[in-house]
Formats: sequence, structure tokens, C-alpha cells
Amino acid sequence: MKRADRKFMEDGIRTLHTFNSTPELKGNTRYIFTDADMQARDYLKSLIKEAGLELYEDGIGNIFAVLRGEDSKLPPVWTGSHFDTVINGGMYDGVVGSLGAIEALKVIKDSGERHLRDIAAVLFTSEESGRFGIGCLGSHFITGEEGFVSIEDTKRIKDDSGVTLYEAMTERGYGKDFEKIRKKKGDIFAFIELHIEQGPVLESMGIPIGIVTGITAPTYISVTIKGEQRHAGSTPMNARKDSMCAFAEIVLELESYAKSLGHPNFCATVGKVNVSPNASNVIAGEVRFTIDLRGIKSKPKDKMAEDIIRFFAYLKEKRGVKIEYHIDANDKPMFSNENLVELIEGVCEDKKLPYHKMNSGAYHDSLMMAKLCPMAMIFVPSKDGISHDPDEYTSMDEIMEGMDVLCESVLRIANRTEPLN
Ligand code: GLV
Ligand code: MN
Ligand code: MN
Repeated sequence: MKRADRKFMEDGIRTLHTFNSTPELKGNTRYIFTDADMQARDYLKSLIKEAGLELYEDGIGNIFAVLRGEDSKLPPVWTGSHFDTVINGGMYDGVVGSLGAIEALKVIKDSGERHLRDIAAVLFTSEESGRFGIGCLGSHFITGEEGFVSIEDTKRIKDDSGVTLYEAMTERGYGKDFEKIRKKKGDIFAFIELHIEQGPVLESMGIPIGIVTGITAPTYISVTIKGEQRHAGSTPMNARKDSMCAFAEIVLELESYAKSLGHPNFCATVGKVNVSPNASNVIAGEVRFTIDLRGIKSKPKDKMAEDIIRFFAYLKEKRGVKIEYHIDANDKPMFSNENLVELIEGVCEDKKLPYHKMNSGAYHDSLMMAKLCPMAMIFVPSKDGISHDPDEYTSMDEIMEGMDVLCESVLRIANRTEPLN
């Protein structure tokens, strides 16, 4: 089989970086259904058409490219990732696996490789939670869990300005044939995603390929603390209900709690905060913020959520503030299919590429896809472990090694007749 086209990958990464809502910053911001997102969609669709692949988009904007196999009645292999970014993020997160999926289909097609199953590249709508506060929107609707089934569900999901997913989506011409988005178990033979590691493990070990065995899952909680807005100079320190101080206690409690678990795959983060009225000489009356908890096992992650909610009760008592919260998501960690992991190990061995089996600290559309079908992921190193930052970087040599493993793995899966489970 031919090697992936380095120039296609390099040009694609650079070009996608130009579709950016914050060009004044160093990094990239591409939120779902913004102009930047729509430009990226047009570009990716043009690449798919140029490659001579079948193209379609579903009702929520997941983009598919299809390469037909010898027996299209067999469940297909899917590979793909996302092409949206966090606010002021990097050039590689999601983009490598999205371009990589299109390129893998091109390589298999142009090499004239025979394969039994259809192969689809799927470019998911909005894996990042930036605009609507919920990650993996496209893959959530594909798996169709409770709350992510019908067009009605899109009417309750809102961004910070109160625009619903329904409004944002229909304004861009999506929302049609919604019932066709959802897939059921058995519809897809396997899903495989190439992604940057986004952490320091591979680089520190000097190993080019990570094979993901488990994906940590998030719990998202949005919280509002209501205290009393008062004068910063004339309100005595012992007569305050300062929502900012209550907020600070929660942030530090989360940090020490997660640290005390002493495991790299259990984390707690407060990354988004709104303070009202946000003035230097006014005691904050209200603080709204998000909590992002991650865990590789559900039980300790759920306990972390329960304990922090108990801490809210203690703080309410201690500081006389009101605390309201809502659990926006509580996903379960998922594990890769062992046969797929073994297949990828075989590919790495044949290509003489050292590999390391590891958990993913970040979540991915693969986490959702694992509910539907056997899943595995291939990681390539991230320089200094940096991600969700403009300094995110993976070299083209490293990306090309990941592509070697992706292309061969996809081809082997597409010719597999034995079941994976
Ligand atoms: C996805 O980017 C995540 O937040 O893990
Ligand atoms: Mn990300
Ligand atoms: Mn990602």
C-alpha cells in the first residue's frame, strides 16, 4: 500500500487553521455553526469530492466520505475525528484524525487495495463543548442516548447567548431527516480514531505510537453561587455574603480532592467563570462557573461529584450563600475492543514502530462510538504534552507514522470476517 500523502496532511492542517474566528489571537477558534466552522466544512467537503469519494452530511452536520468495498451489505468500518476547536486552541486536536480519515480512504483507493467492507470517514460535528457546553454533539446523536435523539432535544440545548442548537443548526440548513442520524448496534463493524495524545506520556517515553485501551469520561456540572452584591469599602468583612470567596473555596477543594486521588486519569477543573457584576469595587453578587471532572472509573468519579455537592451544602451554611447546580453530563469511561487493540499491535510490529498501550485522559467521539461498536484509538505524541493551547504541536514525521498505522489498520479491519467481540 502507498504511504499517506504528507503534503495533503500538511496543507490540510495549515488551511483549516485559516478558518478561525479569532485570527487576532495566536491560536484557533472554530465553534460549531459559526462562519469559521462552515468554511471548514466547505473545505473538507471539497477534499472529499476531489478524492472521488461518496459524500453526504447527516441532519446534525456529521460529514461522511465513503469508499465502497466488495460487499456493501457487510457492516462498514468507520474512521474519523472532529474539526472544531476549543477557544484559542491548537491546530492538531481532531484535525489530524479528520484529515487522516479522508487520506486513509484515498490511500486505500489509490493503491487499488481490495477490501470487503465499505470504509467511511466520519468528520463529527462539535466534539468540543465550547459553544453549547456539551461535548461530542455529533456522536451523541449518532448513538442516540436519552436526550440526544430527536429534533426536540436540540431545542433545549442553548449557548451562552440563549441561541438553541436547533436555531443555530437550522439557520445553516441542517436539521433535516433527523431520524436517520441515529445508528444502532450492529450497523458499524468497528470505529477507529487517530488523534494526538494531548499529554506527555509518549514524548517522555520516546515512543511514536500510543494504542488507547481506555478513555476517561467527563462529568460536567454548572454551578451558580448567589451571595450579596455590596460596597467593597463600606461593608465590614464579617458582614459579607461574598460569592467570590465561596467560589474560591470550591476551586481549591476540587484541586486538593482530585490531587488526593493520586491517579493521572482522575482530574477536576474549573475553566469557565462569569462574575457579576465584575467590578473591582463591588463584592460579587453572583458567580456562575463550570466544573469538569474526569475519571477512568465511574465509581470514584461519581463519588467526586457527590462529595463536591456535599461541600456546597457545607459552604451554604458557612457563608450564607445560595448554591444552585445542574449536572449537564455524566458519561461513563469506555474501553477499547481487545481484538482491535491486538490488530493495531500487529500493525505496529509489522511496521517496526514501537508502541505503548495507554489510557486517554481527554475524551473523544470514540467514547460515544464505543457504546455502538468495537472501538480503538491510535495516538501520536504531543510536544511537551501541550494541548487545548496555541502551542499544541506534533511533527509531520510523527503524524505520518500515525497515518501508516491508521491506513494499514483500517484496511485489515475492512477485510476482517471474524467478529471482533
Ligand atoms: C476534549 O477535547 C476534552 O475536553 O477532553
Ligand atoms: Mn479537544
Ligand atoms: Mn479532540
